[in-house]
Amino acid sequence: MKFLKPSRLFKPFLAGVSLAAVAVYATHGMADTAGAPAQAASAASTSALVAAPASAASAASAPSAPSAKAALIARGQYLARAGDCIACHSAPGQPAFAGGLPIDSGHGVIYSTNITPDPQFGIGRYTPQQFADAVRRGKRADGTHLYPAMPYTSYVKVTDEDMQALYAYFMEGVTPVAKAAPTTSLSFPFNLRFGMGMWNWFFASNDPFKPVSSWTPQVTRGAYLVEGLGHCGSCHTPRGVAMNEKASYSGEEKFLSGGELNDWAVPSLRGLPRWSEQDIVDYLQTGRNPSAAVAGEMTEVVRHSTAYLQDDDLHAVAVYLKGLTPAPDRASDVKPQGAQETAAKLTQAVNLSLGERLYLDNCAACHFVDGKGAKRVFPSLDGATVINADNPYALIHVMLKGARTPSTDKAPSVLVMPGFDHRLSDSEVATLATFLRQGWTNRAAPVSEKEVAKVRERLQADADAHAKLQAQAETTAH
Ligand code: HEC
Ligand code: HEC
Ligand code: HEC
Repeated sequence: MKFLKPSRLFKPFLAGVSLAAVAVYATHGMADTAGAPAQAASAASTSALVAAPASAASAASAPSAPSAKAALIARGQYLARAGDCIACHSAPGQPAFAGGLPIDSGHGVIYSTNITPDPQFGIGRYTPQQFADAVRRGKRADGTHLYPAMPYTSYVKVTDEDMQALYAYFMEGVTPVAKAAPTTSLSFPFNLRFGMGMWNWFFASNDPFKPVSSWTPQVTRGAYLVEGLGHCGSCHTPRGVAMNEKASYSGEEKFLSGGELNDWAVPSLRGLPRWSEQDIVDYLQTGRNPSAAVAGEMTEVVRHSTAYLQDDDLHAVAVYLKGLTPAPDRASDVKPQGAQETAAKLTQAVNLSLGERLYLDNCAACHFVDGKGAKRVFPSLDGATVINADNPYALIHVMLKGARTPSTDKAPSVLVMPGFDHRLSDSEVATLATFLRQGWTNRAAPVSEKEVAKVRERLQADADAHAKLQAQAETTAH
């Protein structure tokens, strides 16, 4: 890699390019045809969700039966969005809810099942009780246990009324697909589903949702969505040795205190001190807010689930999260360089360290010398959770592979961060990442070349495994 020698000309040029780029991004984003069909298919259905979740409940008992049924189904559809059922129960390029998505459990691949109302291959023969037992207790109609890759430990909080609406939607609002999903066959002892009975006995709670008496109705609604259908804790709560979530309700201080997902640091949602209520709503609705943009698995959560939630519900979630006591700030002996100092150094562009030079050459055009990016277009790198995480895996991943925001109703443009895996060596990524983690007000430990090499290897292995599974799925489909 060659460095541009920072010259006097370079800076104004850089600024000019940046502003032009911001304008283009802000108005058009980047054409994202790949994501378009799914978006279009689901866009039509959102408009049906006019009824507020709470008020739609009473429609079920209204005298005009057909419209009451339609309202119930529409509410079920909305709740299925809130529960993000589609994300796990649909494989790429396959019909919605037909299952077959491979989920790596750490002990082998678990395939999601066909939950369309097909009587043979789906859940068409499930009674309301059997459906509720599967969703809330992880028990299949034949009495065997589901693996907790299905988040029934959160869905246990779903009310009976909401279960009825979900049932109506899955039986009458979803198109049946007469196709078997691949069967899951884990190796011993994980193939023994009765083992999950023991696991449930130890770890799973059978407790319904319990609001705290001091909560306002809005906070209660937010807690209900987060603890239950939203299953936010399945990624945002730390897990114990048996992959059990260490806490499952708001009263416990470990709940939502941050976790790790295949090494990707999942931030704490407790209090979210740096964000306003509106910042949280924007992030969940559009995958971006004035200072941040979504990356990693959260992108899919926004795309398939939170982008569809009504404003009221998103505000409820935000107010609830802001009310949680923040996790204590972790002790860190890293001294940040200081926002002004870093920005000044990058602006003067003399005696730059290698990390600073790499930043100017590759990143500053979009993220700017102050590391603040551009409001709602390029996320701020100063203070970004992903940069300050103890585990640098997510940061290295984003630098190598890039990221793109989802296209949502409220923010259809896709913002693209390019990947640098072909342009930067392991040592350059490490040096640049270390600069990011200690520049401006950031404070996190340095990143080593070895760590970058490991992530690169891992990404390659994941890509290979993915290709293999894809090929397998194609051959079994014929
Ligand atoms: C995080 C991934 C994930 C999400 C989200 C998810 N599921 Fe599942 N679900 C699974 C997996 C994996 C299985 C199969 C588990 C097994 O084989 O033990 C499953 C199984 C099921 C079953 C049992 C089906 C059968 O064949 O007996 C039902 C019913 C079900 N899910 C309904 C839902 C509903 C309704 C939602 C949304 C409210 C949902 N799931 C959300 C992963 C998920
Ligand atoms: C499948 C796993 C998963 C689920 C489920 C999930 N999240 Fe996330 N979430 C993540 C990851 C990973 C990140 C980090 C994203 C990044 O690095 O840019 C994240 C980031 C966030 C952030 C940004 C916080 C910050 O400081 O940057 C918010 C807010 C958030 N999630 C809210 C939620 C809510 C609310 C729910 C439930 C409705 C939820 N998440 C469910 C994985 C998940
Ligand atoms: C062409 C413009 C562009 C360039 C050049 C660029 N980025 Fe980005 N970057 C973006 C956009 C847009 C996003 C938001 C994408 C997303 O998160 O889905 C982003 C996101 C990120 C994130 C994730 C932030 C978060 O809160 O999750 C990090 C970290 C990052 N960039 C670092 C870098 C580094 C380091 C470089 C230089 C090696 C760089 N970027 C170069 C546009 C750019």
